[in-house]
Amino acid sequence: MSDPSVRVAVYPGSFDPITRGHEDLVYRSLRLTDRLIVAVAHTATQKKSALFSVEDRVELIRSVFADEPRIECTSFRGLLVDFCRQKGADLVVRGLRAVSDFEYEFQMAQMNHELSPGLETVFLTPDVNYSFLSASLVREVARLGGDVSAFVSPRVLARMQEVLGR
Ligand code: PNS
Repeated sequence: MSDPSVRVAVYPGSFDPITRGHEDLVYRSLRLTDRLIVAVAHTATQKKSALFSVEDRVELIRSVFADEPRIECTSFRGLLVDFCRQKGADLVVRGLRAVSDFEYEFQMAQMNHELSPGLETVFLTPDVNYSFLSASLVREVARLGGDVSAFVSPRVLARMQEVLGR
């Protein structure tokens, strides 16, 4: 049974891999909630260009936030609204970097609210230093031999180098 006096928020996404921009958003989210669940989605569309398995992504996120007891990380299948219900979460956190993010995010927030009227989505803007950053760009730059050390934590960088055979 979830404790109604403890606010739980979910930060869902692909996180392939978790970037400094995601990390910044996680810490900002802790001002809005008691517990934050970083939830890695299993979705078929990601498989093609995926760098890490969902299990590896969860493990990396757990290692990045190992010192923060209010954060947990897990994966989920199926609808986000069902996962939130299961976890007793009434808040979804998403990042908005630029106007280009808006349409997709707006549609998802509206749909999730239709499916689960008690669920609210809040949008947070990342630090301006990370407003250009996306996991897909980090994957591409890394695959092509570029230096991504400024964009991911050292543990994530080390695993990327392993996976890419560097
Ligand atoms: O990091 P991403 O890839 O932009 O995250 C998208 C994600 C995982 C939040 C979204 O695809 C999602 O919620 N997937 C779970 C399935 C679901 O609920 N789909 C309907 C969304 S309205």
